[in-house]
Amino acid sequence: MTVLVTGTAGFIGFHVAAALLDRGEAVVGIDSLDPYYEVALKEARLAQLAPRPGFTQIRGDLACPATLEAVMAAHPGIDRIVHLAAQAGVRHSIDNPRAYIRANVAGHLEVLEAARHLQGLKRMVYASTSSVYGANAKRPYAVTDPVEQPVSLYAATKRADELMSRTYAHLYGIPLVGLRFFTVYGPWGRPDMAYFLFARAISAGRPIRLFGNGTLLRDFTYIDDIVAGVLAALDRPLTWGDGPPHRLYNLGNNRPEPVTRLVALIEQALGRKAVVELTGMQPGDVEATAADITESARDLGFAPSTPLDVGIPRFIDWFAGHYPA
Ligand SMILES: NC(=O)c1ccc[n+]([C@@H]2O[C@H](COP(=O)([O-])OP(=O)(O)OC[C@H]3O[C@@H](n4cnc5c(N)ncnc54)[C@H](O)[C@@H]3O)[C@@H](O)[C@H]2O)c1
Repeated sequence: MTVLVTGTAGFIGFHVAAALLDRGEAVVGIDSLDPYYEVALKEARLAQLAPRPGFTQIRGDLACPATLEAVMAAHPGIDRIVHLAAQAGVRHSIDNPRAYIRANVAGHLEVLEAARHLQGLKRMVYASTSSVYGANAKRPYAVTDPVEQPVSLYAATKRADELMSRTYAHLYGIPLVGLRFFTVYGPWGRPDMAYFLFARAISAGRPIRLFGNGTLLRDFTYIDDIVAGVLAALDRPLTWGDGPPHRLYNLGNNRPEPVTRLVALIEQALGRKAVVELTGMQPGDVEATAADITESARDLGFAPSTPLDVGIPRFIDWFAGHYPA
């Protein structure tokens, strides 16, 4: 049987597809190769996947209803879905709000519609974000906390995805698992994220800007730990209880670190000092993220095992090889 993975040219989708192929699954990948960040990196990720047995890649926009209709008709063996395609990034949503509604709301609806009409769907797993906790003061963030205070449109669209998913689980009995990821990093990562921007700037001798005057705390989570959580969410038997078959889980490292420590580890791995400019908070940013992973540990066996001082050197190894000086 076959897993449909959306966002396979993206950071997390690429790694999830590779892990599924590693264990002998057939994977149909879909991605629009959106130019939000360098398309060459997305193509390089796909070039890694393309020769692998069991992998098929389709280029298409999920927000067009015809895209998934055609994919589902051409691949009747699909029995599970991992939906990771999205317009990501908090800051970009300030200037480009419509891109978020299209990819994250209209796109998510189309994936739910495809799931609804799929005979024999075993489960659909989809990406949400720690950003849904928004302005919540209580930390660590627990899945049982209210999430009514988004501070970016990105967060609002991801919360909409969770609510739409719950509705589809209620109406059509589709088994759905939403995963709130906390600042994922690692090889083949996203060039718009702080760790990547810092690595680029430090290796080029350019200054880096630390928002919140360097005081921000992030629950940096290594990609391999996230992939293990995604596969567990796809595989593990879950008891749904009386409500609709919909669950939400935090996937975070449960170990928030100051951004200044991230910078120190990048400096060490690159063997270069950073030129640091301290600056204030950005609209849409939150001061700290920290995951309560009680439920994900209990139900998914989620146990992140990669500390920042192991994960950052691995990222820098890949970075230095992919972008030689
Ligand atoms: N990386 C993180 O730290 C993080 C944190 C929280 C949540 N997430 C969520 O995890 C998921 C994966 O994130 P990522 O870091 O791999 O991001 P990414 O930007 O690297 O990957 C997303 C992919 O989706 C594709 N895409 C966008 N719109 C599309 C559309 N309409 N049709 C088809 N493809 C489309 C893009 O081209 C891209 O390749 C996203 O849903 C994101 O919101 C990521």
